[in-house]
Parts: sequence; structure tokens; C-alpha cells
Amino acid sequence: MIVIRKEVFKDINPVNRITDPVIMDAIRKSEGFIPELSLVADCDEDVVGHILMTEVMINGFKELALTSVAVDPKYQKKGIARLLFNGAHDRAREMGYHFVVAGGEPGLFKRFGYVASSMYDIVVPERYLETGFYAKCLNFTEDPIFGDVIYLMDRVKPYMDEETKRKDIGSNVGEGLKTNDIRQNIRKTVQTNDIGQDIRKTVQTNDIRQTVKIHDDVQDKEEEKSMRSNSTPHNAAEPGMIARTVIMPGDPLRAKYIAEKYLENPVLFNTVRNMYGYTGLYKKKRVSVMGSGMGMPSMGIYSYELYNNYDVENIIRVGSAGALKDDVNLRDLVIAQAACTDSNYAYQYELPGCFSPIADYELLEKAVEIARKDGKNIRVGNVASTDIFYNKYTEVNKKWAKMGVLCIEMETAALYMNAAFANKRAISILTISDHLFKEGELSAEERQTGFDDMINIALELAREI
Ligand code: HPA
Repeated sequence: MIVIRKEVFKDINPVNRITDPVIMDAIRKSEGFIPELSLVADCDEDVVGHILMTEVMINGFKELALTSVAVDPKYQKKGIARLLFNGAHDRAREMGYHFVVAGGEPGLFKRFGYVASSMYDIVVPERYLETGFYAKCLNFTEDPIFGDVIYLMDRVKPYMDEETKRKDIGSNVGEGLKTNDIRQNIRKTVQTNDIGQDIRKTVQTNDIRQTVKIHDDVQDKEEEKSMRSNSTPHNAAEPGMIARTVIMPGDPLRAKYIAEKYLENPVLFNTVRNMYGYTGLYKKKRVSVMGSGMGMPSMGIYSYELYNNYDVENIIRVGSAGALKDDVNLRDLVIAQAACTDSNYAYQYELPGCFSPIADYELLEKAVEIARKDGKNIRVGNVASTDIFYNKYTEVNKKWAKMGVLCIEMETAALYMNAAFANKRAISILTISDHLFKEGELSAEERQTGFDDMINIALELAREI
């Protein structure tokens, strides 16, 4: 029976046998060492594997780097690496870390849900430019954790009081290394330590500080497949790549436009079916923007996945609509307080009557406040979400107008229903691009200005919630 547990003092020698003792000793004496994240695989009191994560700084936040994984060669191909990875990830997650980064061979890390660090806008350190650099999100965060990675294992602990020494289980193992000698010493050891080379397959031959040494240690192909990624068939993002608030235009190229024009450090998280999705900062707030496609089935899929597969709380649709009522004009901004529909989307819920899809009240109130403060003329009311753009009998739409419905579009009802079912929040902000019963069209420039007005409201709203 294999148990993953925290390393204790008596494990040091067995761990040294399957890792590089000098590197381990240096790491244990460094600022990056966290005893809680030095774990061993214990097989009937024999140490058969070891995993170590150390602390790094990313944009001022303390996060983790996977620094060493080793499995006794006699125990390889038994799933021990998987147990070690899962054990370390779980513990790190419980400790509240958000990210773990790792440099090395993609095969190994992708298997455990790591993606290229650039997906999170985490810069590849120079030492990994020639290999690969990966990141895994452990806990969702709104904090701006991106940029350069500073390895705290490069720094020797300046001073250790008695208590720290006791906690620092490796402090009396091996010869102490002098502060600025660490790199040279390690380098020398790696070059000359032939025994070490014999007992281990070293992935990172040119990296002295990363000692990831196991490869094909996952047996079950199905399990391997399921661990590879948490993405969906339509969204390649890994958990944590998408902010809590997502702004959704119908057109993915509009998503690109918003990301490039308004977000700082936008990171592209999805290109599946060209449905671009980005996460970046708007006035220091982490915000995502992603296309929804046209119509309720498309909005239904993307918003469902955002709410249920990712940690998305708020979706703000930004779209265009055709005016139905006489007093609604081109370029007017409309907030959909509720959405009538000719679709059967709600049948799935098997309700004993008609469901009324409505906007989240707090989002509605705030959006109205923002628009008014900005001097924007905004209409708030009922809209209609239709399945049919080229309606053979356009006159039927007059019946919606008769009931006070302001305009017609094709996505809001599905969005509001998905939000209701997932117990999340949604709002639709629309710009009138045409009138179903009156002449007139917007020029390209007017369309653009109207769109930017709407985006500004959506972004300010995203910032406030
Ligand atoms: N019908 C449906 N959706 C629309 C329209 C329309 O006339 N105009 C803009 N979005």
C-alpha cells in the first residue's frame, strides 16, 4: 500500500538516495523550501518516491514551482508519480496557493493538467527558454498573478531561529553550502555525480535546479486522458484562465477588438472554432471577454460551460438588436430587464408553466447607474430573443411591440435561463442597429461609436462587481 505523506527527518537519507542530495540540501536551506510540500511516497515504510514544490514570487504573490519529482526505478510504472503529483497538488491547493509552475518536458506536465505558462501570461524564465515552461492553476484567483517568476530557492535563508531550524528538517543534512556558492556547487555536483545519473533518468539535463526524473509512470490510458485537461469540447481554457466576469459579444472578432483595445495584458485562452476568448486587466480588474456566436443554441453552449465548467459568476452580453417599438431609435442603448422568446429552450427544465428569463437585479441597477452617470440615454425593458432572423412573416413581430417589447435579438433568453439554472448572474446590454418597421441604417462609424459606448458600460460594470 502506497501512502503519500509529508517528509520527516528519517526520510532524508532514503530521499537522498533517489534524488540529488546536494541539490536537495541546498533547496532545504533556501527561502523557497516549504517542509509541508516535500512529500514522500511510502510503501510499507520504504520511501519509493518524493515530490517537492518550492515557493516562487510572481508579481509579488507567493506561488509554487514544482522543483523535483523522483520515483525509485524499481517502483516505476506503478502509478506512483500520479499519486505524488495529485498529493502535492491537493496539499498546495489546501494551503491556498493559486499557481504551480514547472519547467521541462511537456509530456510529463500536460498529463497533470499543466498548460504553457504563456496561457496565464507567466513569463518563461531564461533557464527554461530551451525546454518548456508550464503552469497549473490550483485555486481560482482574481489577483493579477502574471509576469516574471522569481525562484526563492535561489536565495539562502538569511537566518534561522531554533524553531525554524527544527522545522527545517534538512538543515543538518550534508555539508552546509555558503550563501553565494550554491549555484556553482550544485553545478559541479551534477556534472560529477555519476551515481546520480545512473539511478535516475534526468529530464532536465541542462537545468541544475530542476530535478524531475520520472516519465511514463502513469499506467491507465483512460485515467491519463481524463487528467490531461479540464477544458470542454468548445473551450480550451483550463480552470483559472477565465475571470469571474465575462463580457460576451456575439462576434468573436469583437471579443478580439475589446481585448486588444481595452484590456491590459490580454491572454488568449480559446481558439476552438475561432470563438476567441481573452482574459486581461481592465483598470486593475481581471475581466474576460469571449464570443457567444449567434443564436440561443450557441449562446446556450458557451454560457453553460462558462457557468458550470469554469468559475464564472457574471456574464455581460453586449450585442445588437432590431428595434420593435416606434419610440426606440437607431443607436439607442437597451438593457434587457427580461427576455421573451419563441424558442423552446425552457422546455428542458420541465416547468409546470412559462419561465420568465430576467436580468440579475444588482447588475441591472448598476448598469443603469453607470450609463446615467455617463450621460448615456438608456432604455430598460423587455426584449424578445428569437430563433429566426429571416422571419417569413415579419409582421408577427408587431405583436411583441404591442406587448411593450422594445427590441429583438437572438441570445438573451438562453443566457438568462442558463444563469438562473446555474444560480449565477447575467445581463444583456444591447445597441439598436436597425428598426424592423422604420427606414434607416447606422453608418459604419455610428455602429462603432454605439458599440464602444456599450462596451464602456460593460467594462465599468465588470469593474464594479
Ligand atoms: N432580428 C433578430 N436579431 C437581430 C435583429 C433582427 O432584426 N437585428 C439585430 N439583431
